[in-house]
Amino acid sequence: MSAHGTPVPMTSCKSGPLKGIANVPGDKSISHRSLILGAMTVGETRIEGLLEGQDVLDTAKAMRSFGATVTDHGGGNWSVNGVGGLCEPETLIDCGNSGTGVRLLMGAMATHPISVTFTGDASLNKRPMARVTDPISLFGAKAHGRSGGRLPMTIQGAKHPVPIRYKVPVPSAQVKSAVLLAGLNAPGKTVVIEPEATRDHTERMLVGFGAEITVEDSSEGRVITLTGQPELNPQNITVPRDPSSAAFPVCAALICEGSNVLVPNIGLNPTRAGLFTTLREMGADLSYENERVEGGEPVADLRARFSPDMVGIEVPPERAASMIDEYPILSVVAAFASGQTVMRGVRELRVKESDRIEAMATGLRANGVEVEDGEDWWIVSGQGTGNVHGGGLCATYLDHRIAMSFITMGMASEKPVRIDDGSPIVTSFPIFEDLMTGLGGAITRNNH
Ligand code: S3P
Repeated sequence: MSAHGTPVPMTSCKSGPLKGIANVPGDKSISHRSLILGAMTVGETRIEGLLEGQDVLDTAKAMRSFGATVTDHGGGNWSVNGVGGLCEPETLIDCGNSGTGVRLLMGAMATHPISVTFTGDASLNKRPMARVTDPISLFGAKAHGRSGGRLPMTIQGAKHPVPIRYKVPVPSAQVKSAVLLAGLNAPGKTVVIEPEATRDHTERMLVGFGAEITVEDSSEGRVITLTGQPELNPQNITVPRDPSSAAFPVCAALICEGSNVLVPNIGLNPTRAGLFTTLREMGADLSYENERVEGGEPVADLRARFSPDMVGIEVPPERAASMIDEYPILSVVAAFASGQTVMRGVRELRVKESDRIEAMATGLRANGVEVEDGEDWWIVSGQGTGNVHGGGLCATYLDHRIAMSFITMGMASEKPVRIDDGSPIVTSFPIFEDLMTGLGGAITRNNH
């Protein structure tokens, strides 16, 4: 089954050299947050460089249902006119494929006296929601979902919310952010403790919108304290380009012979940039050019060149949160390195848009790459450049990153690599195919 009904089978063949400039779209995490925070503010928030991927478009639609005026001015320029809170939607909220969209929205509405029914596609409706419904019930919200805490689910927001102190049991920026967004409409101080640092866009953006929020390191981890019921001020937001999307042209250049690709204006927030550190440790020819700070976020142009001598490494488990979405494409690069790449402490990969360890291990094996895996670890045995056989058909399980990872792999494998369905790619990187073919990637759509 595909994201939108009709599967889009695709094939990629040995490509390269890849050359040119890869302008990847805006950051998905920041795009969702811009729309949600804009809608919770009185007045007009302007957003430049919004990711117009399906996940974010679904959040834009949701914010309209919650009462905000959301306008697309063209060219990635959007505005959101909020009414200072969320109104009860007349219809159900369909977040499509987006775990970030639904979890952040559940948090945001949990402290409003409204009732909302959330649903999603076949992938999202399988994913665990108790990680959000547990903390929001402490604020006073009530959730009624399917068995196992799955969507569709109706949440009745708290009429008289109370602030909470909550230690996040899994390393998840979505859960942390849901609690902070709920805390916005509760009186007093809401405290979130995260034992492992995860992406901190919500904290940074809340500061920008004028909330009182402090972050301290303690023996328990990062302690984030938000003072509830702030007056939020509308913002002008420039969304940096997405490091998780940049990962694909960067990694394609590293593995395709003779390549030299520039990926400009990439957000390198340390809570997101773990993949690039890992690639450099593997011996990738990856440099940061024109390093600067924009809108409070570190940004650089990434230059990636063909790197035939990469070696497998043990990825430090404490780095996992800063590259959690990049393990699928890292496992592809690992196949072209020599020696083993060991990835531990990555249990969360099993509850993403798909079970990403299972999906990647199965597809890599179908292409002649040896993989061992356990509940929270996996090891890819590198074949060395030029030795990845390819020729396999890979299932993508409604997961954009699985689809893009295998298409990237086929661009450097001996035999073409096929995927059963590339339609989910539109959720995060709608221009992926054009961008990769523009660099010299040999990608076709086919029926099989
Ligand atoms: C995201 C957090 C991560 C990540 C997702 C985006 C966010 O999920 O995988 O793509 O924007 O907060 P978890 O919070 O479940 O780790």
